[in-house]
Amino acid sequence: MTDRELIRAAFAVRERAYTPYSHFKVGAALLSKSGRVFAGCNIENAAFSPTICAERAALAAAVSAGEREFDAIAIVGSMEGRVNTLPTSPCGVCRQALFEFGGPELRVILARSEEDYQCLALGDLLPLGFGPANLAR
Ligand code: THU
Repeated sequence: MTDRELIRAAFAVRERAYTPYSHFKVGAALLSKSGRVFAGCNIENAAFSPTICAERAALAAAVSAGEREFDAIAIVGSMEGRVNTLPTSPCGVCRQALFEFGGPELRVILARSEEDYQCLALGDLLPLGFGPANLAR
């Protein structure tokens, strides 16, 4: 699975984003260490706070399928019908949710297109993240 293919999967699922309120559509594709891809889109809600980000939707799909170890996540987002100028970077809640399973090594691919993307480590987006190791007994 190349970065390009993972980004393509993120763009594909972005089409399904349910965004009647913000009109900002996000797609995320999470690559498990076993080589499987789990896609998620943002799902908004009239009450606003139950909204689920694309990254956590992808994570929920993956963990529900039995996967808990991941190599990378590709994220794409932009307003409906527009191409993004800024990268869509995961919100704080999603950084924390990904840290639980990906740890600081998870590769986070922020893409504007299949060719134009940057790759960061989750540990750079969430330094000194609080994780399972902190609660080890
Ligand atoms: N959103 C995501 O799905 N992921 C991000 O990384 C940033 C924000 C969603 C939440 C909401 O549906 C919309 O984008 C605007 O904030």
